[in-house]
Amino acid sequence: MLRVSSEGIILYTNNAGSHILNLLGCHVYQILPEPWLKMVDNALHNGRTITFYGEFTLHVYSFTFTPVKEKGYVNIYGLDVTQQRKRMEQELLHAQKLQAIGVMTTGIAHELNNMLAIIDGKIQMLMQENKGRKKLLNELRLIQSSIKDGAEIVRRMNKFTTEKEDREGFVAIDLREEIKNTIDLICPKCKEHSERKGITYTINLDGVKHVSCINGNPLGLREVLINIIYNALDSMPEGGTLSFSTREENGSVVLEISDTGIGMDEETQTKIFDPFFTTKEYGMGLGMSIVYGTVNRHGGKITVQSKKGKGSTFILSFPIVKGSQGITKNYAPGKGMSDKKGG
Ligand SMILES: Nc1ncnc2c1ncn2[C@@H]1O[C@H](COP(=O)(O)OP(=O)(O)O)[C@@H](O)[C@H]1O
Ligand SMILES: [Mg+2]
Repeated sequence: MLRVSSEGIILYTNNAGSHILNLLGCHVYQILPEPWLKMVDNALHNGRTITFYGEFTLHVYSFTFTPVKEKGYVNIYGLDVTQQRKRMEQELLHAQKLQAIGVMTTGIAHELNNMLAIIDGKIQMLMQENKGRKKLLNELRLIQSSIKDGAEIVRRMNKFTTEKEDREGFVAIDLREEIKNTIDLICPKCKEHSERKGITYTINLDGVKHVSCINGNPLGLREVLINIIYNALDSMPEGGTLSFSTREENGSVVLEISDTGIGMDEETQTKIFDPFFTTKEYGMGLGMSIVYGTVNRHGGKITVQSKKGKGSTFILSFPIVKGSQGITKNYAPGKGMSDKKGG
């Protein structure tokens, strides 16, 4: 905090303020630099608070100039907003990348569709012309079925990129139930995998408490959970614990998913939501970018906390549906689900 007279003389500073003065290259009882003087003048003249952002080497500050007209000075409050700024910039970057990938895929899907349609037409023609030739017909049918597979992939690609703000299929969802269902769905596969490798995964649901419903697409949310869970299992090649917890915080439902796996360094954490970013030999690098897009479409947020060798925690938050009390079909309200699952 700094206090500056109408002439721009620095009357007072606290510790944090002296740091700012250092950065500005001036001292108490001296005059503020020119652009700041203008703002002091402005704030005093108009009697209005002015806010601006200043960048010094590695830090971004938000400065608020609050005029105290009767005393003829201005109080300047500085707040280090570097972290918030970084997060916002990263979010913007992810959004832009997703948008770019959307444009790209729509283009590719369109071209592929045209090509597949031509091949399909020609195949049908050949089939008509060669009705008596059984062997050839069989081969053509094989090609036709591959074309169908191709068309399906194109359809899914298109769906992924055009599913923007489509909230039509949204219903009230009890995350607790969704977690349980998803685990039931993929458990057999995990079990088979862990038995084959002779390792143990423990799934800890102790922290999964009763929370309000959120609005969402059940399939989309399931895909989110599956992607996070598969990554977590990948990160624990020697086995480990996957923990879930839910809570309510500031009008949102917060879901945390933690693993005891290999963890991530800083660089991986900043790139994790980028399309095609992968550190795996056979990875596609699309899972987390899909997760990011889906969480965003749900009006939610996702962040990751991790340390190399110390496991990772994904923190997801979704706005609560007003007036919802959660659907508690399978569980007693207020209790955590404590069915630990090995396997
Ligand atoms: N739970 C996790 N623990 C460690 N690293 C992870 C975890 N989840 C994601 N990652 C990192 O993020 C990268 C991107 O993940 P993802 O988009 O799902 O693509 P893929 O799984 O195909 O590599 C992974 O390659 C991995 O490096
Ligand atoms: Mg993945």
